Amino acid sequence: MRAALCTSLEGPDAISIIDLATPTPGPGEVLVRVNIAALNFLDTLITRGKYQIKPQLPFSPAAEIAGIVEALGDGVEPDPERGVFIGARICCFLGWGGARSHIVVAADRVVPIPDIVSDEAAAGMSVTYGTALHGLKDRGRLQAGETVAILGASGGAGLAAIEIAKRLGGRVIAAASTDERLLLCREHGADEILNYTTSDLKSGLKALSQGRGVDIVYDCVGGDHAQLALRALAWTGRYLVIGFAAGKIPSLPLNLVLLKGCDICGVFWGEAVARDPAGHRANMREILGWIGEGVLTPHIHGTYPLSQIGSAIGLLDRREARGKVLITMS
Ligand SMILES: NC(=O)c1ccc[n+]([C@@H]2O[C@H](COP(=O)([O-])OP(=O)(O)OC[C@H]3O[C@@H](n4cnc5c(N)ncnc54)[C@H](OP(=O)(O)O)[C@@H]3O)[C@@H](O)[C@H]2O)c1
Repeated sequence: MRAALCTSLEGPDAISIIDLATPTPGPGEVLVRVNIAALNFLDTLITRGKYQIKPQLPFSPAAEIAGIVEALGDGVEPDPERGVFIGARICCFLGWGGARSHIVVAADRVVPIPDIVSDEAAAGMSVTYGTALHGLKDRGRLQAGETVAILGASGGAGLAAIEIAKRLGGRVIAAASTDERLLLCREHGADEILNYTTSDLKSGLKALSQGRGVDIVYDCVGGDHAQLALRALAWTGRYLVIGFAAGKIPSLPLNLVLLKGCDICGVFWGEAVARDPAGHRANMREILGWIGEGVLTPHIHGTYPLSQIGSAIGLLDRREARGKVLITMS
């Protein structure tokens, strides 16, 4: 099998493509032939040893995949409902390791792909839509009619959050750095847009929420935007800490949390998946159902061959990706 391997932590340009022996599934595992692997911002970090999870070298990047089950390990009973049978079309969140033509994975981690959903849509939906549904529903307790401000709204995580927030009945203010990016947010359903390069984030969010403030901040960016967004949160609002794409982890004044009676909620979707596999599968089925109905439309930035994975991760590095960056194995 072919694999993209990080043999050092020198970033995406140092990734090599190597032939390895195809693995055999152990007890409780399945062997999957990967068709598509999807990249995320975390691949820019994990390839440099800067992500919170540091896999042992050598490892393959790419946190999520779509593929076909090719073999079942000992003790794995076929279960079509759960996508566990030879020939099943499945998708899976791995954390890392997806950029290879074959993987073994625990049988309880795979999710069947409905016939109506493409591999491209399914491969890249788990991290972005999964984080959005877990963040907005499970952590943010979003209620229909509430206002959600999304920072970094044109990135992979942000676009998915726009669509999920709309599906849950929220009113969405998308915030991003350029008008071109904000146009994409509009196309994905944002009700309002705010350019945080040319306008003040706090007063802009207040103005777009009729002065009462926003109910939820979904912050993919961190940095200097965070405190401004917290200041624009309404009474009993929820500030969802999603990521720090700006590179700077902000410190927030707790007096604001007291004065607003608000919650600052950490959202660590990958850990939530590991701790609650049944809840994860339920969320994935809901998301795949919405994709099948056309309610969610995963935006694909581009699809690249495995040999170009380094430059594909570079798109995320240079802030050029608009939606998901996919890697094809064929
Ligand atoms: N908590 C979780 O479970 C979870 C799950 C998924 C992702 N995340 C995190 O969420 C964040 C966004 O992920 P993503 O996949 O949406 O990434 P992405 O597609 O690269 O988007 C990141 C967005 O952040 C903004 N940004 C601001 N400063 C930036 C900088 N210095 N470099 C790059 N982007 C910058 C960019 O928008 P503007 O130019 O408009 O500012 C960009 O659209 C990452 O930190 C990721 O690790 C967390």
